[in-house]
Amino acid sequence: MTLQEIYDLAIEMGSKADPRGKEGVKKSLERAKKQFEELPEKKKAFFDKESLKNPYADSRILLGDSKTKVSKVIVGIDITTGEVVLTDRLNEKGKKIDLIIGHHPEGQALVALDEVMDVQVDVMANLGIPVNVAESLLHDRINQVRRGLSPANHFQSVDAARLLKIPLMCIHTIWDNMGHNFISNHLAKRKPETVGEVLEAIEEIPEFAEAKKTNSGPRVTAGSEKNRAGKVAITGFTGGTSGSKLIYERITNAGIGTIVEMHMPEQHYEEAKKHHLNVIVSGHMASDSLGANLFLDELEKRGVEVVPFSGLIRIKRTK
Ligand SMILES: [Fe+2]
Ligand SMILES: [Fe+2]
Repeated sequence: MTLQEIYDLAIEMGSKADPRGKEGVKKSLERAKKQFEELPEKKKAFFDKESLKNPYADSRILLGDSKTKVSKVIVGIDITTGEVVLTDRLNEKGKKIDLIIGHHPEGQALVALDEVMDVQVDVMANLGIPVNVAESLLHDRINQVRRGLSPANHFQSVDAARLLKIPLMCIHTIWDNMGHNFISNHLAKRKPETVGEVLEAIEEIPEFAEAKKTNSGPRVTAGSEKNRAGKVAITGFTGGTSGSKLIYERITNAGIGTIVEMHMPEQHYEEAKKHHLNVIVSGHMASDSLGANLFLDELEKRGVEVVPFSGLIRIKRTK
């Protein structure tokens, strides 16, 4: 596959699994187009034109010619300068890695992480929370995330990859959409009645079973395994990063009893607990690996060899 084909496949698969639905994704692209067209000419030069084709600002080809042929890819959750140098060392030993793919965004994709948080509005709306409430609560949080990201050294690993001439790509919300979709469907089929049964159902998924072996599996962090689960919702799997902590009251009011999140900041945990939610934190690396694996199976089907590193728990679902 070429770099471009891998990137296009990612956008296609991420859109299919998007909580906004195909129509919602289409509309978000149309909004970007309208925004661009309405800009004065001198501001158009600074517009991220890739956002007219790709609805995920946190998933991008960061470095490399789009026509580059990729036979072997190394894939990890976080790509720092260390991972870039490690890839170069492996290539010195004859590994012939053509591309690095990271999950968490780097470079321009990291700066724009807040732009994908809009996905969360639809996740909440799908749970029955009024869209205006979800949007308003998220708005302040998006600004907070934007301010928080501004001091980072966004291009550090991209600069390292440039010096070592290794193509680099990051695929973030796309994989999180796929993980969100998979775990939602899995739990809907299992119909767990207690929090313990929700936990067991999550642990049936191989990535979580694997993480459990090394003490990094899912945990009940609020409520207890014996509690009735009530309605179960996946609230913290996609949409960039944690949303507003003020949403938990609304989640309870929407009739949800148990929520599943990849990871949870302390203040969010306290707020969820205050509103009597049972909380299962499924574990960051295992959760991110789930979405990654669903995509990587498709690359392997197309003849691309996958080397996992940097936190990725590689599970293959294809024979
Ligand atoms: Fe993720
Ligand atoms: Fe993550």
